[in-house]
Amino acid sequence: MEKLTIEGGHVLKGEVSISGAKNAALPMMCLPLLTEEPCTLSNVPNLQDVKGLLSILNHLGVESFFEQGPSTLVLSGKKLQAKEAPYEMVRKMRASILILGPLLARFGEAKISLPGGCAIGVRPVDQHLKAMESMGAEIRVENGYVFAKAKQLRPTDFTFSMVTVTGTMNALMAAALISSGKSTFRNCAFEPEVVQLCQMLSVMGCQIEGMGTSTVHIQGTSHLSGFKCDLIPDRIEAGTYAMASGITGGEIFLRGCDKQALAKVFDALSLCGLESLSKDGGVWVKASGSLTAYSMTTEVYPGFPTDLQAQYMALMTLAQGECRVEETIFENRFMHVAELNRMGANIEIDGSVAHIKGVKQLTGAPVMATDLRASAGLVLAGLAAKGTTEVMRIYHLDRGYVSMEKKLSHLGAKIQRLPQ
Ligand code: EPZ
Repeated sequence: MEKLTIEGGHVLKGEVSISGAKNAALPMMCLPLLTEEPCTLSNVPNLQDVKGLLSILNHLGVESFFEQGPSTLVLSGKKLQAKEAPYEMVRKMRASILILGPLLARFGEAKISLPGGCAIGVRPVDQHLKAMESMGAEIRVENGYVFAKAKQLRPTDFTFSMVTVTGTMNALMAAALISSGKSTFRNCAFEPEVVQLCQMLSVMGCQIEGMGTSTVHIQGTSHLSGFKCDLIPDRIEAGTYAMASGITGGEIFLRGCDKQALAKVFDALSLCGLESLSKDGGVWVKASGSLTAYSMTTEVYPGFPTDLQAQYMALMTLAQGECRVEETIFENRFMHVAELNRMGANIEIDGSVAHIKGVKQLTGAPVMATDLRASAGLVLAGLAAKGTTEVMRIYHLDRGYVSMEKKLSHLGAKIQRLPQ
């Protein structure tokens, strides 16, 4: 295992290139299961989660190769043979539930291990399964596996009981080969990653209305073609570096960042005293003096994303005044709080609300990463803390951030990756 050692107190300045979005790459990698034609993804981030899903796809028989370096991936679902994703593979890669819809659509059957919970919550997939059943699938859950069968999926008019990102993606992919009529999905997620998936389904041959809204109509077709897709930039990575700029009092240019995809985040940051300006194909972020505490609640898109909650909380530990951060999406996404408090923060948890009183300074400490975004929050705190912070178990970080220590070093951080 490895750790990051951070010497705090260095102001970050300069330019950072935002990598392709993890949460666009993962669903997009499942689209080739729907067609025999080759599909090309460019701007693919070099992440553990991408590698994990690729190994599952290869296990199913998807052929793949990287073209001209590690960021252009060509996938072909022509020679699919297996229709099973075993527990050993799925447990490491929750988003592999995204192969359910395409396999069901393509072959009329799938056997996928239930992904199980993770550190941030139980994370059930009941909505995924209900959506498939509404299209005529027979779903059986036994011994920790989902067995799905459907002679012929049929059009549906389905309403999600809650907004689910991968649930929306799974349902749309399942409906993509239904040529007998139009399906309607209501209360959908419409994150930029969902929109790009819809765009690719349209390129492949589906007729889709309502992209970017909570009600999507999709008319599938019996034959889907391949596609070429340049993945959108990772808005969560971009938001993380924007907050790194704020917590160190620096000025960073986020190359590739789409400010609109983070509108609510930049609105909140400007109220904290972090200015941002969209220009030259990215976003300038500059701390205009000390930070002011500002309360925030996580919401489904286009609200403040839950995936930036831990990073925002780190920022607020040093802001002047008091604020509250409410987590409404996941039931256990405050595991960074205890570690931040060990660094001198003043945070009290009351159910789904964290009350934060700004302190003058954080002090470096050995801390433990528990999940992907909590570890990012601890890194941010370490960048500002007095002294040295060691963030352990950074395999969590490697799931979602490309070479974070290299990108931060390039901005002036004193950070090293070392054996734990
Ligand atoms: C996606 O996860 C993202 N992952 C998550 O990012 C992100 O935090 C989450 O959406 C919310 O924005 C990918 O896109 C690969 P949900 P997903 O289904 O789809 C409940 C990261 O850090 N729910 O939108 O799994 C669920 O428990 C990761 O990059 C059900 O109850 O999340 C949660 O409370 C972490 N039943 C809420 O809905 C279901 O069938 C939202 O979950 C599905 C979801």
